Order: sequence, then structure tokens, then C-alpha cells
Amino acid sequence: MQPIRKIGILTSGGDCAGLNAVIRAVVRRAISSYGWQVMGIKDGTLGLMNRPLAYQELDLALDTDTDLLRLGGTILGTINKGDPFAYPMPDGSKKDRSDEVIAGYRELGLDALIAIGGDGSLRILRKLAQKGNWNLVAVPKTIDNDVHLTEYAVGFSTGVEVAVEALDRLMPTAASHHRVMILEVMGRDAGHIALHAGVAGGADVILIPEIPYSLEGMTKKLSSLLAEGRKHGLVVVAEGVKTEDGEPVTVAHGGGQSRYGGIAHYLSDKLADLVKAETRYTVLGHVQRGGIPSMRDRVLASAFGVHAVDLVHQRRFDRMVGWQDRGVIEVPLEAVAGVTRYCDPFGPMVRTARGLGIYVGEVAG
Ligand code: F6P
Repeated sequence: MQPIRKIGILTSGGDCAGLNAVIRAVVRRAISSYGWQVMGIKDGTLGLMNRPLAYQELDLALDTDTDLLRLGGTILGTINKGDPFAYPMPDGSKKDRSDEVIAGYRELGLDALIAIGGDGSLRILRKLAQKGNWNLVAVPKTIDNDVHLTEYAVGFSTGVEVAVEALDRLMPTAASHHRVMILEVMGRDAGHIALHAGVAGGADVILIPEIPYSLEGMTKKLSSLLAEGRKHGLVVVAEGVKTEDGEPVTVAHGGGQSRYGGIAHYLSDKLADLVKAETRYTVLGHVQRGGIPSMRDRVLASAFGVHAVDLVHQRRFDRMVGWQDRGVIEVPLEAVAGVTRYCDPFGPMVRTARGLGIYVGEVAG
């Protein structure tokens, strides 16, 4: 059995706050405790696909020089549209380039790889690891917090804090103008950000993709508040929420692609007529992903990074680190790769919201 001497690390999928803090923890643990070499692979799996390979050796000085703990984004770069099994070619076709990526791991002389990614990235990375016989350990990250079997993924807490701050700022202006303010937050498939931010930010209505809603239900809630003398209403909606008729709301952007966005605009128009109040909407977008990581994300990133390196040391591959019951755990990658963790419509967070009188849609609970 080959001893571990050199490991790789990469970030994959959408960026978020806390990725550099994971990189820092991995570098510190791997070098200080085990004396390994750490190679930072650029732009996710692209760094292993490109020739020459795109990477940089990471050392302890890098942390001191760049203050990785506090730095937003990822110093390694990332991509969220480059599945090597169906790689988008310039002529519009898709090509299987997985062999090139697999060869890159060997060319770089890696004994193991630590990959930081969300559910989609982890599915692809696990497929590569199985095909290429890689020694893979995964760290969950995504502001959407929808990676299975971990209570928290890196980036979520910071994203929620940004959304709560937005609500804190929207509330006084809503009250001053007697308006209903609608805040659209990220959350493609799962509404964890909307649910947490809505509860923490004092929303009156929270809409998430997991729970159907009606404009009538929203109108009833907001109208009754205004009738009781409240001067404003706050609505938080996840970008993945559909129209009342079940149509996804997307915007087209360059290259013939489309992405979620626009549900707040739709609701704003509808509610202006139905509630007979002035409405305004704000789309928070990528503001939630950038910036300085929160305390929780720094703690999580540090614990995940150290534990991931320890798993490599113990040769416990094909695992993901996670957070459950106040501590770091490990789970088989097979159980989480490509699996989405949705909000439970009957879970404690939805019950809390309902208990506070917040309208969360039309499921009995
Ligand atoms: O998956 C994380 C996420 O931030 C989603 O909430 C959002 O829909 C998506 O990424 C945005 O991706 P992009 O950066 O490609 O616009």
C-alpha cells in the first residue's frame, strides 16, 4: 500500500463563504501534522483536465500571506458547468472527457484528493473516483444547505446572515412607506435559506419550493396584518418557488442558458393588486455567496478540513465529513452524492414558522 505523501484539494460548484477556510485547515493539518505536500487544483476538475495541468502547491506561508480564514470566494477557482462526463464543447456538443481528468490525477502524482462540493459536484467526483480508482474524501459546501446527512454545509450560515441583514434593512423602509417588501433569496431546490432567514428576520410570509402556496393564502395573511394596524409586510421567497400555477420562473442569459430568478417580481405584481398595498421586491442573488464567512462557517470549515485530512490519514476513502449533533461525523459518500436534502414540511423549522403565525404555504402541520 502506497503511503500518503501528496494530496490534492479542489473546490467545485458554486462558490460560497468559507471555502478558503477549509483550504486553510486542510493545508495546516496535512503539512503540520503529517508532513504531506498539498497541491491546490485550479477551477475544480478543469485543473486536472487541462494540459499543462493547472495547480499550485499550497504551503503554510500562503495562509499567513492571504488570511484564508477570512477571505471570501475560493483562491483555487471553481466551475459549476463542467461535468467531465458530458463536457460542453465550443461547438455546442457534449464530450466525455473523464479520462483526461482521471489521467491528470495520476500525472500530478496524487495519493488522495479532498474535494469540496455540493450534492451535484460530489456525484460527479465520486463517479470519477470510482472510474479512476482515486482515493477521495469530500467536504460539503453550498449556501443552499441541501447536502444529505449533514445538518450544515459550509457557506449556508453566511448566506442566511446576509439574507437576515437584508430583512433588517428592508423592514424599516417597508414600515416607513406602508409597503409589502418581497425578498428573493437563493435556494434552487430547497428552501433552507428562506426558512431560516424568514424566521430570524421576522417575515410574515415564507415561500419555499417544498411547500405549495396560494396567492389567496398569502393575501389573507398580509391583508389581516394590515387590517390590524401593521404598516408593513415582509415576504421571503426562495428563487426555486414556482408561480401559483406551477410554472418555474427563470430568466434567460447569455449562451442560450436560463437560471432561476423572477419569482419576487411575479409575487410583487400579484400582491399589489390582491392586497391593495404598495409592493417592492429585492433579489439578493450572489451577494449571499461572497464576503467574509460567519463564525459558524469558519468553525465548520476548520473542523471539516482537519477531519477530512484525518480520514485520508486513516485511509478511510469514499467518505464525506458532515456535521450532526454538535460534532463532525463521516458518512459514506455513496449515501449523499447526488442526493438533495429538502426542507421537511412537517419539521421543526416549518413548525416554528407556523407557530409564529408566519404563512408558509398550504400543508397542514
Ligand atoms: O447551488 C448554489 C446556488 O447558489 C443556487 O442557490 C443558485 O441557484 C445557483 O447556485 C446560482 O448559480 P450561478 O452562480 O451559476 O448563477
